[in-house]
Amino acid sequence: MRIHRLFIAAAAILAIASCTPVGGNTDAVIERKVEQLLVEMTLEEKLGQMNQLSPWDYDDLAEKVRRGEVGSILNCTDPEQVNRIQRVAVEESRLGIPLIVARDVIHGYKTIFPIPLGQAASFNPEIVEKGARVAAVEASSDGIRWTFAPMIDVSRDARWGRIAESLGEDPYLTSVLGVAMIRGFQGDSLDDSTSVAACAKHFVAYGASEGGRDYNSTYIPERQLRDVYLPPFKAAVDAGCATFMTSFNDNDGVPSTANRFVLRDILRDEWDFDGMVVSDWTSVSEMINHGFCADAKDAAEKAVNAGVDMDMVSEAYIRNLALSVEEGKVPMKVIDDAVRNILRLKFRMGLFDNPYVDMSREDMTYVPAHLETARKAVEQSVILLKNDAGTLPLGDRIRTIAVVGPMADAPYEQMGTWTFDGEREHTVTPLAALREMYGDRVRIIYEPALAYTRDKSQAGIARAVNAARRADAVIAFVGEEAILSGEAHSLANVELQGAQKQLLRAVAATGRPLVTVVMAGRPLVLTDEADVSDALLFAFHPGTMGGPAIADILLGKVNPSGKTPVTFPRMAGQVPVYYGQKSTGRPALSEEMLVDEIPVEAGQTSIGCRSFYLDAGSTPLYPFGYGLSYTTFEYSGLMLSSDTYGMDDDITVTFNLSNSGPCEGTEIVQLYVRDLVGSVTRPVKELKAFRRVTLGSGETQAVSFNLPVRDLAFWGMDMTYGVEPGAFTLWVGPDSATGLSADFTVVKR
Ligand code: GLC
Repeated sequence: MRIHRLFIAAAAILAIASCTPVGGNTDAVIERKVEQLLVEMTLEEKLGQMNQLSPWDYDDLAEKVRRGEVGSILNCTDPEQVNRIQRVAVEESRLGIPLIVARDVIHGYKTIFPIPLGQAASFNPEIVEKGARVAAVEASSDGIRWTFAPMIDVSRDARWGRIAESLGEDPYLTSVLGVAMIRGFQGDSLDDSTSVAACAKHFVAYGASEGGRDYNSTYIPERQLRDVYLPPFKAAVDAGCATFMTSFNDNDGVPSTANRFVLRDILRDEWDFDGMVVSDWTSVSEMINHGFCADAKDAAEKAVNAGVDMDMVSEAYIRNLALSVEEGKVPMKVIDDAVRNILRLKFRMGLFDNPYVDMSREDMTYVPAHLETARKAVEQSVILLKNDAGTLPLGDRIRTIAVVGPMADAPYEQMGTWTFDGEREHTVTPLAALREMYGDRVRIIYEPALAYTRDKSQAGIARAVNAARRADAVIAFVGEEAILSGEAHSLANVELQGAQKQLLRAVAATGRPLVTVVMAGRPLVLTDEADVSDALLFAFHPGTMGGPAIADILLGKVNPSGKTPVTFPRMAGQVPVYYGQKSTGRPALSEEMLVDEIPVEAGQTSIGCRSFYLDAGSTPLYPFGYGLSYTTFEYSGLMLSSDTYGMDDDITVTFNLSNSGPCEGTEIVQLYVRDLVGSVTRPVKELKAFRRVTLGSGETQAVSFNLPVRDLAFWGMDMTYGVEPGAFTLWVGPDSATGLSADFTVVKR
């Protein structure tokens, strides 16, 4: 056996040496190192590399590491403990292979940024990348070199708690911002000690969990997989994302953790991904619960044969695969390929050269530059959903403000879900910011009324009403505690919990201008809140610097620019509701007769037969891409470079954007396209480009987009990917529901 290994090693070295420049960690050099190490490894050591543990007992962990039974650990954030365990791996195990240390750093490590859904509202890849870079610098200083982010599951269901972690409902926006996060986490070079390997998750279609109930089955056919759910992951591969994570859901009966079609046929063979694939937390052994595997050994065999390289904490691999290999149920090549992917990642990360945390490194957590980046991210993620009669910004005429609601001073809740390492002590709440930044300009009366968002007690509402009566305006901070979104936290009722509605109605009844600020992890149904509020801001869970940014927006120092990255339903029953839906054969009219308008004993077909809800109509409360500003913008002069294009042409789109309002503002201009006739039905709109444009009051700017015709490709009736000739309509505008349009044709030439 040993001769065999030596022969393989020699052959590998000869093959690589023939074209490898000496020195440097080029791919060829890394491949040679991988092969050299692989031939030295026993089967047990190989399975050890494929085993990831989340340690409870570090002495027990050290023993396993010493025996070469562990390839990675997660959830260790003490740099000294990391170095202790890493020293066991590097200096006491037989082959000295370093561990990869991982953690969920989803939207910040210590400095907490808006939840990813909030960051998506900025439509700004630059600020998203900066946020991920800040997170990488802070996390790597504690020894974390692998994060389980970006979460790029296209999410179209407000009931699903994990929509908070997503970048919204649109494949293109998710792709652009997911790539920005990968760039931020991984930096210029993966072997830089401040870089953190990114992980594209959850592969795939997890956001389509039926009923929005987490972990539930999905039924996404291949064409919709390829048109909607896969594109962000392909973009992640093209951006050099180091790792992928499988998703909990079974799609059409096949759990993703054993889905050879997506893990091998698409990810490896079509996309040529050479990174590493990790399961989700015990998702290998959970295939027993799925009824897809008989026992842990069966699960381990199906997962590794399907292409999962590393087993996150179920220990099914380490406990079963040696026998599986012996029985011939898992070829040794499958094991070797998995270990190659793991070793290659470790070499790329420079772990063999620099395995330890530099304890002399400057502590960069919460440095002013990081806090300022987080503040900017909040400023750009807050969405102005309503602003009647210029209620906002609060002007000089407002001398006394009543601040009410359970989210006004909730430092823990404000950080949102997936903030294991965020520290509430560093959170600046809106109440604290208003007092600190504007306390000399306005008098603040604070009455939370509710102790927390689920608080059903109405006992405190009278005090809030009394405060409102003594004020010139009321600012109500409502929304969701952090626990109400995120993993395993799906809701059937996506309206405000507790007595928050009663609070808003009561303070609105005083007649004082009511500004409602919602902090939540999902697109709540805000129909009632919009009705009773004069102005409505949606701030998601804004993180550490939510307070200062929101205060500056309320008092006019910052003009909000956020746009909805996900559709806001009128009623939960509309869900799933998203802009890129199909027309159906009976599309709704712009105005439909709704349930209260229908005459008694109306005839069966008297109100027509079209696709809408009698009690909710056919439109959402707020469409995708929607958001107001303290100024106004006008679109004019849409021009296309031609009205007919060939397959290899680029469409040049130009139009004028004017700031017709009183102050500087930033507009997120959006470009949508509709393929009017396809070999299969096509969405009524698809986002193809967007850009943040800042204009001073009265300023006009010519804006242009270049849209390659090949970007109109989709998976047709014959399941080939391409552009089909025919008629198209294009829009440029402020959101997915309005804008200027122009028609064009694509021809084969
Ligand atoms: C969780 C999540 C996944 C996370 C992993 C490690 O269950 O599904 O997103 O990265 O386990 O915490």
